[in-house]
Amino acid sequence: MDRRKFLLSAASGVASVGLLNGSAIAADIDVAPNNAAPSTTSSRGLGGILRKFRLVAQQGEVEIGPDETFKTWLYNGQFPGPEIRVKEGDRLQITVKNELPEETTVHWHGVPVPNAMDGVPGLTQKPIAPGESFEYAFEATPAGSYLYHSHVGLQIDRGLIGALVIEEATPHVAYDRDYVLVLDDYLPGAPQPLGGSAGWGGMLRGDWWRGGGMMGMAGQMPPYKGLLVGGQLPDNPRVFDTKRGERVRLRFVNPSGASTIRVAIAGHRVTVSHCDGRPVEPVTVDSFVLGTAERYDVIVEANNPGVWPISVAAIEGDIPPGRAVLRYTDAAASALRDGMPEGFTSGRPLHYDDLQSLETLPTGRPDRVFDLLLRGGMMSSAWTINGQAYPEADPIAISAGERIRFRMRNHSMMLHPMHLHGHFFRVGNALKDTVLVAAHMGRAEFDFVADNPGRWFFHCHNIYHMEAGMAREVRYV
Ligand code: C2O
Ligand code: CU
Repeated sequence: MDRRKFLLSAASGVASVGLLNGSAIAADIDVAPNNAAPSTTSSRGLGGILRKFRLVAQQGEVEIGPDETFKTWLYNGQFPGPEIRVKEGDRLQITVKNELPEETTVHWHGVPVPNAMDGVPGLTQKPIAPGESFEYAFEATPAGSYLYHSHVGLQIDRGLIGALVIEEATPHVAYDRDYVLVLDDYLPGAPQPLGGSAGWGGMLRGDWWRGGGMMGMAGQMPPYKGLLVGGQLPDNPRVFDTKRGERVRLRFVNPSGASTIRVAIAGHRVTVSHCDGRPVEPVTVDSFVLGTAERYDVIVEANNPGVWPISVAAIEGDIPPGRAVLRYTDAAASALRDGMPEGFTSGRPLHYDDLQSLETLPTGRPDRVFDLLLRGGMMSSAWTINGQAYPEADPIAISAGERIRFRMRNHSMMLHPMHLHGHFFRVGNALKDTVLVAAHMGRAEFDFVADNPGRWFFHCHNIYHMEAGMAREVRYV
């Protein structure tokens, strides 16, 4: 069957390429989703095209709803930050200029970059001081849906987040359109660290749309005001167009500060094709859950004309749900269906066990096993791994070439999306870089091969837990 994939002008980069006579330099200027992508230039060299981007971290203001202005910190004045979209094998050179009043860095979440490009302050680089710049350079490989975000303090909840897409040369699924949906929890004002038992409340109400499975009993959450899709509150939703008979690839990415989010689309099932950027055997479900930093690519078959909500709801806390809209442009004008999609209460939710990688997985007995106990919350303001709160915590020492297993147990009332930098790891039969450990005695384990030497961060991607100590250095010795 012929591939029907084509670039959708409204949602993808449109590049004009000019070759400068013999100097081996091509220039292209990208026009990004909202017309304000980072300016880029390219040159063709050995091993792929060089793509240059510029991100300026600065204070600014954006409209996120009919009457809601978000005064915050932004990349290039946009929220979410400009979508960076390149092809597998390209070389990326991204200059980050810091015009904020505080230090910052950028982390390329999920991409196994060389250690010095990983953007962790104090571990892989000196933070970028106000007024300074830093140049990140790495190869765009492997293909997948990734994130970029600040790795300093609670800056993720300022809005310093964006999507990084590395397109495959030969995708294993066919599609006609390709959209990125950036999910986020909206925190007006400056984020504050968790404050022990006097914290934020946010008792779970157990509303029907939260779905089952990973609900905790109580939690401390920041005073989020709503869930955003593509930087918009539900009253002014982003609209994703399709036509009957098309296949639409939706890349859901969750760079939110603390929210684990369930997704379902009214009137449609979804076929999961990628998890954390990695290709999996397509599996059709009615809903799926993304912890912070997780990504799922799904294919939607446009076979039910109308105007449908793509709904997102947090599993912890009492933050109101968000939505985007899937609109058939060739259908007779019809109204947006109201209410939450059926997939929130019935049908088949995705589980990690459903994910079957199309790539080679690490196998064999591990050379080293680490048992990691996750605790915190309630009466304590620290979130710990084996009783230690980073940075007062021992590094986890590994050696190049070893097979490593991490076994995590969760003795707290909240979910923990645990992320290891610099490596993909095996969970069940899938490759991932972030794994949810269910609340209240939940367990998870993963295996990886120590194949990328350096000093790597391992932490809960709930940034409030990370900042309160739920982190370790994984150090090659
Ligand atoms: Cu999304 Cu330490 O990273
Ligand atoms: Cu956590």
